[in-house]
Amino acid sequence: TPYSISALILAYLCGSIPTAVWIGMAFYGVDVREYGSGNAGATNTFRVLGKKAGIPVMLIDILKGWTATNLAYFIGTSVTGGPHSNYISYQLALGIAAVMGHLFPVFAGFRGGKGIATLFGMVLAVNTSAALLCIIVFVIVLMITRYVSLSSIMGGFTYLTGVTFFYNKYTNDLIVIFGMCICLLILVTHQKNIERLLKGKESKVNLFKRKKV
Ligand code: G3P
Repeated sequence: TPYSISALILAYLCGSIPTAVWIGMAFYGVDVREYGSGNAGATNTFRVLGKKAGIPVMLIDILKGWTATNLAYFIGTSVTGGPHSNYISYQLALGIAAVMGHLFPVFAGFRGGKGIATLFGMVLAVNTSAALLCIIVFVIVLMITRYVSLSSIMGGFTYLTGVTFFYNKYTNDLIVIFGMCICLLILVTHQKNIERLLKGKESKVNLFKRKKV
């Protein structure tokens, strides 16, 4: 329907907001894509500009995924006058559109981030308990290894495991397929990180100090 198409475009545009690039440029005159891992994401903003810049980037990127996913509410009601039975598929489609926007932002030359924060916002909107489980695993892996990329990968796999084994009652096939897509997507976006991890060359975060350009 025209509603769903405009919602998808809106979700993509929302995801396209290049928070890391804009905050870096506006407050530090720095394009974070030219430093660190070259990624336009929260992690690299923390790495390059410190937590004052990193925290807002992270929160806004999460919010992008969450907001876009919740646009489903509007398509759901506009079509049927009540939450649509395919509500979950709307949520997933809109969330994915936002993640695509984050990966390939129309407002930043299509060079974006890896979508972890935006994916997290989406999962938060779709299944809060699964999201909490992911964040717990993410934090534990991060504290032990200090690799954000590895923590992101483990978080993604936790989501798949979580929806497959622990949330059976509430899930349908679509969610499991989506979980697999998430894992695949994370592996693809983190290819370079995985290579560095294997070579022992991935950069570790310092959880207590901050670095400045
Ligand atoms: O969220 C992205 C993170 O998993 C890796 O980022 O900058 O270390 O490649 P980065």
